[in-house]
Amino acid sequence: MITSPPGRASALAHPNIALVKYWGKRDDALNLPASGSLSITLDRLHTRTAVRFDPALGADDIVLNGRRDAAESRKISAFLDLLRAHAGVATRACVVSENDFPTGAGLASSASGFAALAVAADRALGTDLDASSLSRLARRGSGSAARSIFGGFAEMAAGTRADGEDAFARPLLDAAAWPLRVVIAITTRTAKSTSSRTGMDLSRRTSPFYRDWITTGAGDLEVARGAVRSRDFDRLAAVGEASCLAMHAVMLSTRPGLIYWNGATVECMQRVRSLRERDGLGVFFTIDAGPQVKAVCLPDAAAQVADVLRDVAGVQDVILSGLGEGARIVADSELEVASGNPA
Ligand code: PMV
Repeated sequence: MITSPPGRASALAHPNIALVKYWGKRDDALNLPASGSLSITLDRLHTRTAVRFDPALGADDIVLNGRRDAAESRKISAFLDLLRAHAGVATRACVVSENDFPTGAGLASSASGFAALAVAADRALGTDLDASSLSRLARRGSGSAARSIFGGFAEMAAGTRADGEDAFARPLLDAAAWPLRVVIAITTRTAKSTSSRTGMDLSRRTSPFYRDWITTGAGDLEVARGAVRSRDFDRLAAVGEASCLAMHAVMLSTRPGLIYWNGATVECMQRVRSLRERDGLGVFFTIDAGPQVKAVCLPDAAAQVADVLRDVAGVQDVILSGLGEGARIVADSELEVASGNPA
């Protein structure tokens, strides 16, 4: 077991991408999703976060990707307050967090960010939460973060309780049991203009399709869960693309419409479809609240899919990922070396 001096710990987490999406909340204050979701955790992208609780600090000191930002700091402090309340302490903390991929551009940086923070802060404070409680805690930072506590395939329950105690993720299948690969086509490095939080609230209030979106989500989730359990790629492909496109239909029908795609996004979607339908490759696309395209592939299709997407005009980079582990404690020195930012 990795140990750290009292009051400090470092954790690593990977982003996850949803194959059955969530878009909309049943409770804003507790960050409770209106529908369940199913995701895969990616091994190639990382957030590393070091937390040090220090009685000498008068306020939290939060450095994200080498920058101090007042709005982000308020969010992180409020998140740390949840754990401080649980531990019965008021001690302030220094947090240093680094992503090795673009932040806020549809690569789920908030998922890996809050999962890593939950795991590091829990260890640093000695609160010793179990995995379900860590998932519930991570959810308070960002809905999708609840899923990054786990590796491989994970399912997030919307739950029905008003206190949100039943809204957390659980592991469905290990990465090694079905080692799919994901080709991520980066079509911009710019952060999105409408955050998921703002966008999904607007969709809930204004999209005429919102109610149907929530109702059909439960069926999609059941089909996807069955497809994962039986390793049925074609079934997962069909339900995965359907869930993604239905979510974007809700986004587009929001007033004013949320258009997260650019031209390269659409071209990548067409190429993926053609690789599957014309060339018989095991691949399907999914896209979140941003213009990056994630092509989920059977292992032997990934190299060819990457070659094709790399050639699309407007694609700036292509990242190949496998499925990764859940959020975990790492040695402090690893973070210091990786970030160049001694915590
Ligand atoms: O984690 P949040 O609350 O920022 O929302 C993420 C929403 C999507 O990524 C678009 C879909 C999902 O289920 O991850």
